[in-house]
Amino acid sequence: MKTIAKARCLPSIQMLTPFILILLFVNQGLAQSTKAKPWVVPPAALQVKNPLAGDPASAAKEGKKTYTTYCTPCHGNGGKGDGVASASVNPKPADHTSDAVQSEPDGSLYYKMTEGRGPMISYKQVLNETQRWQLVCYIRTLAKKKS
Ligand code: HEC
Repeated sequence: MKTIAKARCLPSIQMLTPFILILLFVNQGLAQSTKAKPWVVPPAALQVKNPLAGDPASAAKEGKKTYTTYCTPCHGNGGKGDGVASASVNPKPADHTSDAVQSEPDGSLYYKMTEGRGPMISYKQVLNETQRWQLVCYIRTLAKKKS
């Protein structure tokens, strides 16, 4: 009796295994498409000071030019993450005007654009350090105006 039951049971579980795996993958894919995972920045990178902090206004002016060339396709003209390419990007480009982004230290934004993650590529080889700090200064000017 026992052996018959086992013989009937085993093949069906084996047949189901691939489907269970597929379901798990699909589920993970859906979870990723809705929200970006928290992006953990090493503590040392958070402490890095912005070398252009002495004159953020002129740094931001230069940063704006770089931003318009390299970043607006995804992050949008106003930095809201609504650029022309944003629809095809997953997860969605960050909203640089948001409190979440603006509350991060300069070192965090610098680290993220330097290292990149997923569709947000690394700009380490594309832009030099000064250009990346200028971008940090420019992103600061995108903060929602408090009324
Ligand atoms: C191909 C589209 C694309 C381009 C171009 C792009 N980004 Fe991004 N960016 C993203 C996406 C997508 C994320 C979210 C990545 C994640 O959370 O995994 C992101 C996230 C970021 C973040 C992190 C925001 C946060 O605090 O979590 C910063 C900073 C950033 N981008 C800056 C830039 C800068 C500066 C440029 C131009 C030099 C740029 N990005 C160009 C797609 C893009």
